[in-house]
Amino acid sequence: SETKKLLVLPGDGIGPEVMREVAKVVQWLQAARGLKLDIAEELVGGASLAKHGVPIRDEVIALAKEADAVLFGSVGDPAWAHVGFDRRPEVAILRLRSELELFANLRPAKVFDALIDASTLKPDVVRGLDIMIVRETVGGIYFGEPRGIETLPDGSRRGVNTEVYTTGEIERVARVAFDLARVRRNRVTSIEKCNVMESGLLWKEVVTDLRQRVYPDVELTHMLADNCAMQLVRNPLQFDVLVTGNLFGDLLSDLAAMLTGSLGMLPSATLGAEQADGKRHALYEPIHGSAPDIAGKGIANPLAQILSFAMLLRYSFDREADAVLIETAVSNVLASGLRTADIMSEGMARVGTSVMGDAVVKELGKLAG
Ligand code: NAD
Ligand code: IPM
Ligand code: MN
Repeated sequence: SETKKLLVLPGDGIGPEVMREVAKVVQWLQAARGLKLDIAEELVGGASLAKHGVPIRDEVIALAKEADAVLFGSVGDPAWAHVGFDRRPEVAILRLRSELELFANLRPAKVFDALIDASTLKPDVVRGLDIMIVRETVGGIYFGEPRGIETLPDGSRRGVNTEVYTTGEIERVARVAFDLARVRRNRVTSIEKCNVMESGLLWKEVVTDLRQRVYPDVELTHMLADNCAMQLVRNPLQFDVLVTGNLFGDLLSDLAAMLTGSLGMLPSATLGAEQADGKRHALYEPIHGSAPDIAGKGIANPLAQILSFAMLLRYSFDREADAVLIETAVSNVLASGLRTADIMSEGMARVGTSVMGDAVVKELGKLAG
């Protein structure tokens, strides 16, 4: 198979810690499964600010555009919490999404049988859960203009952000959701607040119209975002694919993480449009952040990062078999009783980041037999 270009951006906090465990999986795939990679690694976030004075350099954006895929860790560092918005670590991921036009963020939430007890919800509520949240990631209130903080004549201040969606932005992300539904359980729930927001009303109209024209075979339901938050906890098994804007998608996917037991379990893929040559930009990252509260302790759960790499193999490198192998290895390791602190429950064996990574690699070896 041809050599693929992979850009690795570990970032801050637990990012580099969990990325180290992915490196072990990569090495195993190179040795045992003929995976051929040309790997570059760069600093982003607070780590880049400290060395280069910016959260991400233009050179790194250029490398990301050239790469066949980007594997991202997480950015964010309390040390940079009080600097201006152009110099925050988080700018790294926002610029990557925006400049590579990575508009469709796929955030699957799947419950591993072995982790039923790790969820704070009752087993019957989450058993067998397999939902896909499709979050729009280059528009909405994250990028809308005007924005900023201004001082009013009376000396008080005003913070402004603007929710904006165009028909084109809504339609392209909705298409991703409908396409995914067709190969899943054929159901899409579209989420907005059309009762209070014009952008939400437009969202609902565009999704409804698209379904009528192109996807009449897919079942479509509309749900207000606040109700959706409640329904996800009440009865998450009712959902298949959910599609929503940038901010609601951010909130609902963290919520969905707890259905699976931990934020440390959830991977994601962020995809751009297919280009003329059939390629598409893509970035893979866990949905969790840099977790400053546990960084440096060697206890972070590396599985979200490892599963993000599995998604990368599936969507960008056309290696479905290897993706399934990794997912099966993770499932088996969990079934064997190993747990990082975030998913620990009674009677299980508590391990740190690196032992968990080693266990996945060992299981891969067994599976490949
Ligand atoms: P967080 O996701 O970093 O952490 C929330 C909680 O979950 C913490 O208690 C943390 O210890 C726990 N947690 C997260 N990942 C874990 C893992 N793999 N294993 C075990 N426990 C885990 O969210 P936060 O604390 O609100 O944000 C911290 C920083 O991360 C902020 O600067 C934020 O902007 C940034 N952030 C970055 C990304 C990203 O890079 N894509 C995503 C979310 C947050
Ligand atoms: C995420 C994060 C980011 C977001 C931050 C770090 C900009 O929370 O990827 O979920 O809000 O999109
Ligand atoms: Mn988030």
